[in-house]
Amino acid sequence: MQTGEYLRTTSGLLLMVPILVLLSACADKRQQPRDITGADAAAGLAVIERLGCAACHQIPGVDWPQGTVGGSLDGFADRSMIAGQFPNQPETLATWVRNAPSMSPKTGMPAMPMTSAEARDVAAYLYTLEHD
Ligand code: HEC
Repeated sequence: MQTGEYLRTTSGLLLMVPILVLLSACADKRQQPRDITGADAAAGLAVIERLGCAACHQIPGVDWPQGTVGGSLDGFADRSMIAGQFPNQPETLATWVRNAPSMSPKTGMPAMPMTSAEARDVAAYLYTLEHD
């Protein structure tokens, strides 16, 4: 009787180990803001070039201009925050690149004329920029 209970407890604990491992793997993934379903990074680069983001930012993949007002976006995929205020997550970034003043009224980053689909493409491109 006692042995049976011991075995049940032990196997219960053993089952918990893989479950905990799985849970922590999911948690890690959530902290990595990288995939945007259906977005197209190459199309995002074309939008960035068309709208002239590089007038204010240095952006790998855009040779000219290399503006300095908004800072370099090199390594943006590795950063945890947007403008030091918002978590660097796909939908948040897509909103930011399209309409930063709606999130941060005093920001120097202007609203940019693009569709929300284009904004997701732009975010996908920024997530290809991996090291600083
Ligand atoms: C007129 C200048 C200007 C233009 C054009 C501009 N930005 Fe910005 N951007 C800024 C400034 C200034 C900031 C810093 C904002 C802040 O900290 O509030 C910024 C911040 C950002 C950030 C956050 C950077 C960080 O360090 O966290 C991203 C991403 C960004 N811009 C992307 C873009 C993209 C993509 C475009 C083109 C669609 C663009 N910007 C066009 C001025 C500009």
